[in-house]
Order: sequence, then C-alpha cells, then structure tokens
Amino acid sequence: MIPFLQHNPTRLWFGKDQITQLSNEVGENKRVLLVYGGGSIKRNGVYDAVINQLKQVNAEIFELTGVEPNPRLTTVHKGIEICKTEKIDLILAMGGGSVIDCTKAISIGATYEGNVWDIITRKATATSALPFGTVLTLAATGSEMNSISVISNWEENEKRGWGSPLVYPTFSILDPTYTFSVPLDQTIYGVVDMMSHALEQYFHRIDNTPMIDGFMESFLKTVMNAGKELVNDLENFSLRETIMYAGTTAFNDTFSNGTDGGDWGSHQIEHALSALYDIPHGGGLAIVFPNWMKYCAEFDPTRMKMLAVNVLGVSAEGKTDLEVAHEGADALRSFWNSLGAPNRLADYDIDDSRLDELVEKSFMKDQVGSYKILNKDDVREILKMSM
Ligand code: NZQ
Ligand code: ZN
Repeated sequence: MIPFLQHNPTRLWFGKDQITQLSNEVGENKRVLLVYGGGSIKRNGVYDAVINQLKQVNAEIFELTGVEPNPRLTTVHKGIEICKTEKIDLILAMGGGSVIDCTKAISIGATYEGNVWDIITRKATATSALPFGTVLTLAATGSEMNSISVISNWEENEKRGWGSPLVYPTFSILDPTYTFSVPLDQTIYGVVDMMSHALEQYFHRIDNTPMIDGFMESFLKTVMNAGKELVNDLENFSLRETIMYAGTTAFNDTFSNGTDGGDWGSHQIEHALSALYDIPHGGGLAIVFPNWMKYCAEFDPTRMKMLAVNVLGVSAEGKTDLEVAHEGADALRSFWNSLGAPNRLADYDIDDSRLDELVEKSFMKDQVGSYKILNKDDVREILKMSM
C-alpha cells in the first residue's frame, strides 16, 4: 500500500425517514437555495418533504430548477447569480448526480469573483465555497459523499470533471424510498456507473492491497446480485437500500485507500461521448468499459484475470491469462446487457463520423488512464471497438 489519509467530512444520514434530520442540519432563519432538475421531486413527494422541514426552521426559500442530466455551465451561472444577489446562506441539492454536481460548481462560484469555468478547467484555484447539503434521489455517482463534480460546457462540446476538498457536501440525506420512482433505464445506468467506479479503482498498480481489493470484489458481487433482482422489482426497499448504499461507497474515497486511485481511462472516454452526443453516463460506460478491458488485457491481463475469476465466475483452468481476461470482459458485458444496458455506440446512433473529435475530447486531462496509459491511437481503437 502507499501512505494515505482518510478524511471524508460529509455527514451521511442514511435510511428511511432520515429527512427528519434536515431541519437541524439547516438551522434557523437561513436563506436557502433549492437546486433541482426537471421535476421528478415534485412527483414523488421529495419536494414536499423538504419544504415541510424547511418551514420548521423558518427558512427563506429560493429555487433554481431545470438542472439538466449532464448539467450545463449556463445553469451553473444562473445559480451563482442567485446566490450572489440573494445572499444565500446554504444550497440544498435535491436529485441525482447532475443536480449535486451543478450545486458543487455553484457553491464554489458563489464566492469567486472570476468565471467559475476557470476553476473547473484548473486555470484558477478556489479558496472558499458556500456550504451545501444534498437530498439524494438516484443511486449512481457517489457525488453525495465526494469532492468531484462534472460539468458540461455545451457551447464548447466539453465535459469536464474537477474536484476540490471545498466541495464535499456538508451533509447528505439518503432515503432509499426516494429512489423507488427512478425509472428502469436510469436504475440500470446507476448500477453500471457504481460498478464502473469500483472497476476503475480495481485497476491500480500498487502491491499488497488485499483488503481493498477484497472490498471491491465483494462490492461488485453484491451489486450484481441486487442489481439483477432490482430491475424486475423497482420498488423493493431492501434492494433499493443495498444499491443506494453501494453507490455512495463506490466513490467516497474508501476504495482508493492505499492505492494510486485506479485507472479512470474509460470515464474520460465516456465523458468525451457525453460531451459530443449528450448520452447518459452509465450507458456510455456500459459500452466502453468491457472494450477497455479487452484492449488493455493485451498489455497486462493480471488484474483482468483476477476480476474474471474472483468476481465474474470465469474458470481459469487450461486457459492463458489473456483468454481468461477476455472471458471476463465478455462476462461483464453480458451481465450489463442482461440488465438492459446498451451494447454498442450504434444503440445511440453514434457512428465514426466524429471519431477524431472524440479522440481529442478524451484528452481533456494530460493523461488518459494509469493502469494502462493510453495514447491517441489506443483511444481510437477502443472507440472503434465500441462502434
Ligand atoms: O431532472 P429530474 O426530473 O430530477 O430527473 C432525473 C434525470 O432525468 C431522473 N431522476 C433522478 N432521481 C429520480 C429521477 N426520476 C425519477 N425518480 C427519481 N427519484 O434521473 C435522470 C438522470 O439524473 P442524473 O442526475 O443526470 O443521473 P446521475 O445521478 O446518473 O448523474 C449523472 C451525472 O453525474 C456525472 C455524470 O457524468 C453525469 O453528468 N458523474 C458525476 C460523478 C461525481 N460527481 O462523482 C462521477 C460519475 O462518474 C459521473 O461522471
Ligand atoms: Zn461514473
């Protein structure tokens, strides 16, 4: 292992009816900006439950609505404007990863004089942020308990991940019943995304990490078991509970303790796809990740083999490491397909006409991948395999 500090400051309230903690978390007489998406929270009762809590502490309420899936910079700017003109004390995100990521960018932009895009693109460093909390309604990204945000600049066709210790949520409230109304497709994308987060972190290059590797293997098996039942039983509390806790655990720093943090190349390629075609993040990952595994196994199949045998039920008997690794990639794809996840980019009507742009957009950071550092030809191959 390599030396590490574990410090995650988010207060996590998990379980049924934990919304009752909201009034205490907000405190008396605050000016609160509610941030939410296209209205699912109005249909499933989450909005009313939040308003009920805020009334108890005499909050003055402001709203930013219409945050897009793959949240856009233009919406972030609107939120920053409200925070500045209305002297907001606290922001409350109510939704999935997109709403929370948008809120993170608003919180950092609200105390910054320049353009928040400079912070997102790492040209400037943030020194302060407005506090914010979250009420999570979709299990997927882990944004409710991490310091990462992903924002799309649609005019530039750029989708950028960024992070700062200043944007850990102060608190997050997770009631699994709030996810009962998540439709089947988003439920599947969520399962794919949280599994991908564990997989990205599984592909690290640090020795002697049996504890963390074992956590991730157990995590993946648990999510696969619960996920395959959940897609046929969307209002099952036990399954929603398992999946919701899994989504948070997959990306709240736990799985990178003592490692180099993992690969994340597939995520960068997926962000390029979403930047150009606005496809759902989990859908893009379901297509790209197994191809990344297959392609990179040619260079070093060690961890693909370990995953195939320990998690994906592949037998290594009488086979080369590469064969086992390839069977693992196929098994992962088959599992995601069995849930209903897409298989190829053609499923989203994406062809190779913008392949060059996709390759360029994958290189928004200096390096793509770390288990296997990819060059542009590598990324092109993985994308071609995905068409
Ligand atoms: O907008 P509303 O009406 O709320 O509908 C949303 C949206 O259409 C709907 N939804 C959410 N909760 C619901 C619900 N519908 C019914 N009932 C509920 N309880 O689901 C749709 C998708 O929501 P979204 O927030 O976009 O999904 P997700 O949580 O998967 O977030 C995806 C975004 O997060 C980024 C992705 O790139 C993408 O932009 N990521 C963020 C990460 C992070 N911050 O750590 C890491 C990830 O790897 C990822 O990149
Ligand atoms: Zn992800």
